[in-house]
Amino acid sequence: MAPVITAMNSDLLKGIIPENHEICTLEATVITGLEEVAARECQEKLGAVCVLARGRVFLDIEITRVPEVLKLRAVDNVNVVIFMVKNFSFPDSREQCFERLYKLAERPDWKKGTQVWQQTFGYEGNPIAEIRPLNNEICTPRPDLDLKSLKQSSAILDNLPQDVLPPHLRQSQKDDKEDDDEKEKDGGHAEVNSKEDLNQEEKSSRIREERGPKFRISCSRTGTTHKFGSPEAARQFGAGVNEMLGWPVDLSNFDMEVLLCIDTECVYVAICLTKEPLFKRNLTSFGPTNLRATLCYNLMRLAAPQPGEVVIDPMCGGATIPMEGSQTYRSVLHLGGDNFGQAVKRSRDNIDYLIKKGRSMVVDVAQWDATRLPLRSQIVDAIVSDLPFGKRMGSQADNRVLYYRALVELARVTKISTGRAVLLTHDKKSMIRNIKRVHTLWKTGGSQTINIGGLSAVIFILYRTSLLADPTLKAEWSSKKRKHEQDDQATREVVI
Ligand SMILES: C[S@@+](CC[C@H](N)C(=O)[O-])C[C@H]1O[C@@H](n2cnc3c(N)ncnc32)[C@H](O)[C@@H]1O
Repeated sequence: MAPVITAMNSDLLKGIIPENHEICTLEATVITGLEEVAARECQEKLGAVCVLARGRVFLDIEITRVPEVLKLRAVDNVNVVIFMVKNFSFPDSREQCFERLYKLAERPDWKKGTQVWQQTFGYEGNPIAEIRPLNNEICTPRPDLDLKSLKQSSAILDNLPQDVLPPHLRQSQKDDKEDDDEKEKDGGHAEVNSKEDLNQEEKSSRIREERGPKFRISCSRTGTTHKFGSPEAARQFGAGVNEMLGWPVDLSNFDMEVLLCIDTECVYVAICLTKEPLFKRNLTSFGPTNLRATLCYNLMRLAAPQPGEVVIDPMCGGATIPMEGSQTYRSVLHLGGDNFGQAVKRSRDNIDYLIKKGRSMVVDVAQWDATRLPLRSQIVDAIVSDLPFGKRMGSQADNRVLYYRALVELARVTKISTGRAVLLTHDKKSMIRNIKRVHTLWKTGGSQTINIGGLSAVIFILYRTSLLADPTLKAEWSSKKRKHEQDDQATREVVI
């Protein structure tokens, strides 16, 4: 597992140093658990060495080459880092914390950041027309606004004075705490200068002409010791930026999103270079369990398809894996199938959508049952699939039967000795149990735990053994099938 930001070596990042005019440091976010796979893509395509942290990789790159980073397939969001410091200790009093956050606006390398941002989005004009010194008046805290969506389970509740808490949080603090190192989910957008919020007194002390890109601050904060919430941090930092650079705040219609990341000891500031996450690139027709395109790419990479090979996704849902595969491994035949008619229709709509956008892809989908594939034996080189998890799709009881039958059938269609399978599932137990049962046909090549939107899942890598078939497995399956049929029959008779 990649280290948390605090533990990684930020000294290796040279782009953060303002004197290094030609290079910048980028942060690319990635599904937790797949940092190394993403780093290999960066190394392979850009020659860049990444510094890994949990859920992200950092890399130095020439500013002129930033567009190449935005074309990477493994990463979700890309941001240019303009300030990073370890051991950013926060004082004991809330007011002093606010002051530090407000003054933090003076520290980032705004010049380099806006240069990279401007190159990416083509903003016309000079974003930094004037830099004014801060007037040292922090923004009036608004806990009534900023803390109102704080959850009762939030671990920072204990650190906040009772009188600043919104009424619904005053009583039952600490009832339902989560883990110590939880990531606080109290949002965090700067609300400074929203015209209704500012009282007259504040306004007079803060009047200056606002020019430049409309911006908002998004704060993400990890740790339980802070004496402020993320929106409060965003408010103070945003006030400093507004004061210093004169940029107007606009929470919904912003040109620039600035990220303030507060870890337990490390703080960094970055500017977003992706308006929407890169994983949204492929789909037009969405299903209940669509995988991110970036995750599909990472799974495909683990299978390492070679030119001329056949790769299938036997349970493809909306064809997210075959579609991503066909755009990145172009000299490979990608086939997908699903036993659910509507999923196949969605797959076709998604493929047509990309073809209309001018993509040429070697991909097709069919309606089939993954436990009885309409394929001859030994024809497939690799299987890359996202199996029913048993949470949003299927059940664990179903999975135990389905996984077993599918593994036996997939072993039949996959080339012995060289064939491999990369299988993603949340239902780790069913998978481990069944891999043991089919060990004569598949041997384990490792597994990787990942985190998909808070849900823990595991990627299993399997290699096809050299045994052509194991008749005992098929026999076991058939006798089980007969028993199921007998049970069904008995149930029917009872019901009648
Ligand atoms: C987790 S979903 C796949 C989602 C897909 N990766 C996507 O992004 O849209 C699993 C799929 O397996 C399919 N499935 C379940 N049992 C199957 C079977 N016996 N044969 C083929 N497909 C099956 C379900 O219909 C479902 O679409």
